[in-house]
This record gives sequence, C-alpha cells and structure tokens, in this order.
Amino acid sequence: MDKKTYILGIESSCDDTSAAVCCNQIVLSNVVASQDVHKKYGGVVPELASRAHQQNIIPVVQQALQQAGIAKEQLHAVAFTRGPGLMGSLLVGTSFAKALALSLNIPLIDVNHLQAHVLANFIQEPMLENKQPSFPFLCMLVSGGNSQLIVVHSAYSMQIIGKTIDDAAGEAFDKCAKIMDLPYPGGPHIDKLAKEGNPKAFKLSKATMDGYDYSFSGLKTSFLYLLRDEQKKNIRFIEENKADLCASLQQAIIDTLMLKFEKAVATYSVNDIALAGGVSANSGLRNAFTDFGLKHKKQLFIPKLSYTMDNAAMIAVAGYFKYLKKDFCAIDLPPFARVSI
Ligand code: KG4
Repeated sequence: MDKKTYILGIESSCDDTSAAVCCNQIVLSNVVASQDVHKKYGGVVPELASRAHQQNIIPVVQQALQQAGIAKEQLHAVAFTRGPGLMGSLLVGTSFAKALALSLNIPLIDVNHLQAHVLANFIQEPMLENKQPSFPFLCMLVSGGNSQLIVVHSAYSMQIIGKTIDDAAGEAFDKCAKIMDLPYPGGPHIDKLAKEGNPKAFKLSKATMDGYDYSFSGLKTSFLYLLRDEQKKNIRFIEENKADLCASLQQAIIDTLMLKFEKAVATYSVNDIALAGGVSANSGLRNAFTDFGLKHKKQLFIPKLSYTMDNAAMIAVAGYFKYLKKDFCAIDLPPFARVSI
C-alpha cells in the first residue's frame, strides 16, 4: 500500500464553494456549497459570487475535514484552484489555501481547473477499486466555460487538439434555455425536458469547422430565429413544443460534439476515452458517448455525476499527482482568470 497522503482541495473558481479531503486518490469527503443567489439574475454575478465564497469557505472546509475524520494537522498539503475562473472568486480560495498552508507549515499546490476536470476520471471511492484510464487517452471536456478535445499524455501533460471558437457547450445549453425562459443554469432543465421530446422534431443548423474545433454560436442563432418566427404564428409555440425543442437542441449539441470526437478517435490511436466537465452530466451525451465506446471497442470513462460539476475532490486528486512530483508553488503565486490547460 502506498504511503497515505492527505490532501485538502479547495475549489472556488465560479459559483460553487467546495472543499474535499482525499487520501491519495481516494475521496474521503467532498462538500459543495452552491450559490442560489445567482438564479434570479439568470447567470453568475461575479461580485455576489465572491461575497458568497467569503461566507462559505470556512464552514465548507470545516465540514470537509469533519466528514473525512481528519484533523487539519494530519494534512500533508493544501491544493487550490489557481484558474481559470472569476478573479474575485479565485482570490477567496487562493487566499484561504495560502493562509492554511502557511499556518500548518505544509506545501501549497496550485491546480489548473481544466486539468482537474480531466483528472476527475482518476477519483477513487473508498472500498471500491474503480478502473482508471490508461495514458494516452482522449478526453472531451465540456463545461459552462470550455469545450475542448484533449489528448491526455499523463496527469501532467495534456494537449488541446480542438476547442470551441465561440460559445462553450454549456453556454449553448444555458443561453438557449434562457430564450425559453427556463431557470439558470438551463442545461439540467433541457436534459430533463428532452427526455419527453422528439430529437428530430426541429432541424437546427450545425456548424462544420475544420479540424477538431467546434462552434455553437450558429446553432444558438438558428434556435433563436426558429422561436422568433414560430412565435409570430403562434404565441404559445414555446409552451406547446418545449419538450421537442429541448430534445432537438440537445441532439444538435451532442451531434456537434460527437462528430469531432469521432474524427479525433480515428486519428489518434488511443484505447481509452473519457468525458469531463459539467455538461458530461447530460444524460443524452452520456448515452451517445457510451454507445460510441461500445461500438468502437474503447474503454470509456465518465466521472460520477457529483464529480462532473465543479468540485474540490478533483482539485485534491490533481493536487495529489503534483504532490508525487513535489511540484509545489510559492506563497505569493497569483491566481489567473484566464489560463489554458
Ligand atoms: O463544469 P461546470 O460545473 O462549471 C464550469 O466550470 O463551467 O459546468 C456547468 C455547466 C453549465 O453550463 C450547466 O448548464 C451544464 O454544465 N450542465 C448541463 C447538465 N448539468 C450541468 N448541461 C446539460 N445537461 C446537464 N444535465
């Protein structure tokens, strides 16, 4: 058995304050405080997000330690999200992590939020030996702020081969949901409604980009125009067709993502494929991905639902991989709002 290394992970990049304790790759606790304050604005308000992080951070960390049954003196390191994210939000987690690491005199580890989403596929549950992807593998990272195709060479080396040139997949879900007056974030609502609808009911424009890049802005515009034109004829159009609209939109997003993924799998010789990020919670995408994996005889990996969204367990596990390499950071390292993988 490897030496037991306890790492506290802290995530505060957007509107979830989260803390987790992991023993090596095994998650002992993963506490997430979501911020309902943004719902009435239809999107995240950065100033409100940082204030809520400030209120949540201490209780969330305390709960994470308590649930893990670990005293803070037993921690070997503190890992935190350095970016990308909202600067005011990142500053709360970063400052807290620095203060705690300094007071306990233990190493501080900066984690790239996007790499952590990918490494969520390596989170282990206690008493279960989950399989892990073998390197190199191909990962589709789809979240509210990012849509990327990544060749993962190791826990420390990831190569982006394709990305969105405009909206992220989650943004496409959320913006189209807003047009239909669904609550924020709209992705899960569309997912739920789509289950009752016909994915072929409406034809939406799907962009064809060169290489492995995606674009979702044309799809969003074609959705907007469809609703605008149909509402001129029938004011209750959205109400009467909501499930079909959601199913057609979801299918168009999934088709766009899977088309590029399929192309990348054909070019890069990988045995394993993985999903990551908030949009990987989408049931349609999970099904399409699973069907694809079975058809092409690939080992497929999809994080547990709780690890697809922003969470600190993925930060602690990403921190553990850096801990193994003694890749620690300086106490004066600033957070980054924009940073690539
Ligand atoms: O990874 P995440 O928690 O935050 C970012 O780092 O962006 O992803 C949030 C995104 C939102 O756009 C949300 O609508 C989307 O994930 N999402 C979903 C589903 N659950 C969350 N999109 C489609 N279907 C879902 N079930």
